[in-house]
Amino acid sequence: METKRGSWGTNFGFLMAAVGSAVGLGNIWGFPYKMGANGGFAFLLVYIVLAVIAGFTVMLGELTLGRKSGRGAVGAYQLLSKRFKWVGWLGFASAFLIMSFYSVLGGYCIKYMVINIGDLFNAGFGMAGLDAGAVFGNFMVSQAEGVIYTVIFLAITMVIVMGGIKGGIEKFSKIAMPALFIMLVIVIIRSVSLPGAVEGLKFMFAPNFDPLKENFGRVVATAGGQMFFSLSLGMGCMITYGSYLDKKENLERNSVIIIVADTLVAILAGIAVLPAAFALGGEGAALGGPSLLFVTLQDVFSAMGGIGPVMGILFYLLVLIAALTSAISLVEVATTFFIDRAELKGREPKRKLYTLVVCIGILVLATIVALDGLGYNGLPMPLGYVWLDFFDLWSEGIMMPLGALLMCLFIGWELKMGAFGEEIEQHGNRFRSRGFMTACCKFITPICMIFILIVQLDSFGIIEKIFGRGLFG
Ligand code: PHE
Repeated sequence: METKRGSWGTNFGFLMAAVGSAVGLGNIWGFPYKMGANGGFAFLLVYIVLAVIAGFTVMLGELTLGRKSGRGAVGAYQLLSKRFKWVGWLGFASAFLIMSFYSVLGGYCIKYMVINIGDLFNAGFGMAGLDAGAVFGNFMVSQAEGVIYTVIFLAITMVIVMGGIKGGIEKFSKIAMPALFIMLVIVIIRSVSLPGAVEGLKFMFAPNFDPLKENFGRVVATAGGQMFFSLSLGMGCMITYGSYLDKKENLERNSVIIIVADTLVAILAGIAVLPAAFALGGEGAALGGPSLLFVTLQDVFSAMGGIGPVMGILFYLLVLIAALTSAISLVEVATTFFIDRAELKGREPKRKLYTLVVCIGILVLATIVALDGLGYNGLPMPLGYVWLDFFDLWSEGIMMPLGALLMCLFIGWELKMGAFGEEIEQHGNRFRSRGFMTACCKFITPICMIFILIVQLDSFGIIEKIFGRGLFG
């Protein structure tokens, strides 16, 4: 039955939306490079261990809290907890902070689709014979353009969220995610068949245990931080999505599927991107971050000849879809808060209005990031950071690990496994991981999270700012 609040039409639809939230920019520009630079297969092993002990715990925890309370991040904690009532607000704030840069970067993807369309038709708005570094530099200092593309990206996101859980988010994700997968396979085929592609595969996969021996802490921290962001954990997205899920669905199985699918796409993204970057990216090409996406890979498409613009359009469309399905989950966290509040006050929820308000709020922050253009335009720097990194520090660096830590403590020590398990064991579903979840929520995952929190602060340079020296020299 469709309630006023809304619900998923099918479990498949839910899964596509949740995997869509997880699969985003992080999978494409974060994972492949980090895997390659931190020991290849050795890094993958560390990542998988962490995904099992921390990723699974937090994923199942969030989905269960959402479905149990029938509310989004803020409402769930308010309803279920005495001591952790306020934790949902961390997620609410993170959603705005992450969206402040996510929508700018999503806008860049649209711009790069346009550039490749220009190249395809030999129109004036293509690369015009410039190299990708120059084109990117020109784009960064063109502030109006940056803002316009951000607005376009946000507007698309807004329209989807306004459509509702089933009629908007699910409908879009059910088509977009399989399409993304097919595009990824096409890009992989082109990428690995380029001469010299093997080097990229070697970089990403060759097992090298030296980084683990030399700096185990840093490798674990890199894997941990990446995993949380990549799985959209610690900020209430999965609480929100879980709150729209039918009581008969199997939460444990869904958690595993989301984690496996996200990891698989991250690996596939590496196979799509790195061989091409090594084959055609030239000496010293950037292999991660925005420069990988918008400089190295654009150079790759330009070097491909006739098929280049087609591959470029396909690739940036793929990245755009990945970014959109993540962005809608972020906007939904805030929209759901307003919907829950209306329901509590016995008012008719006005989804469209709430979504509009949320997106306007995001636009205010995103405009700063867009005008800053990754620091190209000399805006005043908060605490010495580029604005994108500043917002990223607060969300990814502080609030997300903290949110995950507090959630585990809440489930392990306040809610306890009995009440938690009841939610999972409905309609004949079994709670197979009960013992494991108990140990993880009470002890193992919180310890992991404290470690990840500290090292996140270190990687953003906070530890060095305070103590004069970073953790890993
Ligand atoms: N998981 C997304 C990515 O990898 C980012 C994200 C984080 C989305 C948190 C939603 C919530 O890019």
